[in-house]
Amino acid sequence: MSMLILILAVQILLLTTFASAGDRGDFARTMNPKRLHMKEKLTHLRVYWHDVISGPNPSAIVIKKHVAKHSFGSVTMIDNALTSDVPINPTLVGQAQGFYAGASQHETSFLMAMNFAFKTGKYNGSTITILGRNTIFSEVRKMSVVGGRGIFRLARGYVELSDILHICIVLSFHFVHNDHIE
Ligand SMILES: *[C@@H]1O[C@H](CO)[C@@H](O)[C@H](O)[C@H]1NC(C)=O
Repeated sequence: MSMLILILAVQILLLTTFASAGDRGDFARTMNPKRLHMKEKLTHLRVYWHDVISGPNPSAIVIKKHVAKHSFGSVTMIDNALTSDVPINPTLVGQAQGFYAGASQHETSFLMAMNFAFKTGKYNGSTITILGRNTIFSEVRKMSVVGGRGIFRLARGYVELSDILHICIVLSFHFVHNDHIE
């Protein structure tokens, strides 16, 4: 008899659990990351970002000219090459696709929004999404890594910019991501 009561109690408990899940409309549920065997990796990565704004094949094109001082209101669409190694005789690793827009009326500061689409080796098909503020005359410039796909799934961290040539910027990434390959 007590066994029967126990079974009934368990069944009621299960029913209420399902009922409360149903109350939420079944469009959301939370899971324990440990059960999904999700582990995080820390990645450091360095690439060169080529912002070619002139010449026969520009990769950065002004869509909208600035409307005030400090490039405010300008919008430049980019499909910039990303390379490894030194800028002379570089190896193409992917493309930086997105835009930068003049976003400050008091200093030269750009809103940067780009996806880095990797095209080589184990990174082929993986992306990193960057959103950030670029105060181009500052000594230290950092932007946020807000996401990623492929081997960079769930990426978050930051990227530091440092100029080396007029059209080429060194980007040093530091971010964590899920090591699960989609
Ligand atoms: C990258 O992946 C694409 C699509 O799967 C494939 O066509 C291409 O050859 C790959 N490139 C390299 C360098 O592996």
